[in-house]
Amino acid sequence: MAYTYRITVLAGDGIGPEIMAVAVDVLQAIAPRFNLTFEFTPALMGGCAIDAVGVPLPEETLETCKNSDAVLLAAIGGTKWDTLPRHLRPETGLLALRSGLGLFANLRPARILPQLIGASSLKPEVIDGVDLMVVRELTGGIYFGQPKGVFASETGEKRGVNTMAYSESEIDRIGRVAFETARKRNKKLCSVDKANVLEVSQLWRDRLTALSADYPDVELSHLYVDNAAMQLVRWPKQFDTIVTGNLFGDILSDAAAMLTGSIGMLPSASLGATGPGVFEPVHGSAPDIAGQNKANPLAMVLSGAMMLRYGLNQPAAADAIETAVLSILDQGYRTADLAAPDTTILGCQEMGEALLKLLCQ
Ligand code: IPM
Ligand code: MG
Repeated sequence: MAYTYRITVLAGDGIGPEIMAVAVDVLQAIAPRFNLTFEFTPALMGGCAIDAVGVPLPEETLETCKNSDAVLLAAIGGTKWDTLPRHLRPETGLLALRSGLGLFANLRPARILPQLIGASSLKPEVIDGVDLMVVRELTGGIYFGQPKGVFASETGEKRGVNTMAYSESEIDRIGRVAFETARKRNKKLCSVDKANVLEVSQLWRDRLTALSADYPDVELSHLYVDNAAMQLVRWPKQFDTIVTGNLFGDILSDAAAMLTGSIGMLPSASLGATGPGVFEPVHGSAPDIAGQNKANPLAMVLSGAMMLRYGLNQPAAADAIETAVLSILDQGYRTADLAAPDTTILGCQEMGEALLKLLCQ
């Protein structure tokens, strides 16, 4: 069966355009083999949108995203825009995109690839075999809770306020995604909260426990976030699927990513109940190496694979991309972030060419 997909391409800032070019080429290259046609539509978001039209997420971009089957996002942000008022920062555009598309579930896998085990800062015996998935709630919690702002008190002293809040329905919908995700993996779900201190976390824990009645085949455990951070670096193999709120997920997913040695290898998927998902690398826009052909495009390419798997339901095509990435690593090709003895260092573009060569064989 032939499928045509409309993909919105948000290349963004910094290394974004370089890595996106590689991912788009790779998707185009595998398309015919799986009877797929991709129609890519570029749109502005992040710092480049601020420069071009004055806002980080132009309405037109959100509309284009809504009218597509999936959104590929590279990376946004850079020092140039860091001093702008908050509502005009690239990050605010990203939050508006998540919220505008209702992307409440963020899947961030962290898997140790045997070829890269030496790249991790942890001992090989600690990380060998690690394969975990962080399911992060993405449109609630302290990122979005009200009230928020910096308010002047009666004495004139300023007070900064953010609110960590979750309603039962918000917890339940991310909880269900997490149980379903765990079900497709090793059926172990660890919910991370701070229920020893925070009321919002107690409700989170109670709802997860209640939901577990519907998933008797999944083993549910709970950890406080401080302990979870420690366990992630002490003995990461104990984890299969982790579910947590927005802020804790932001922090723990970076820690989980670094277990694998390079954040430059990790893709992510952000999904809503319906409509297009956004697929993006976990890493940022790396302005320090932008435009130098040094970036690692593999997390972006693997985000394309996640798009095929989770957004477009084309698992065979996703497998093909993932297999190609593993073969490239097997052949000893690396980008500079993964430099190791007996490897060949390629630029971003050359890494893309090597992938294309492999896929078109
Ligand atoms: C992430 C990033 C974002 C977040 C920033 C850029 C707003 O750190 O996707 O993890 O905090 O969610
Ligand atoms: Mg983050």
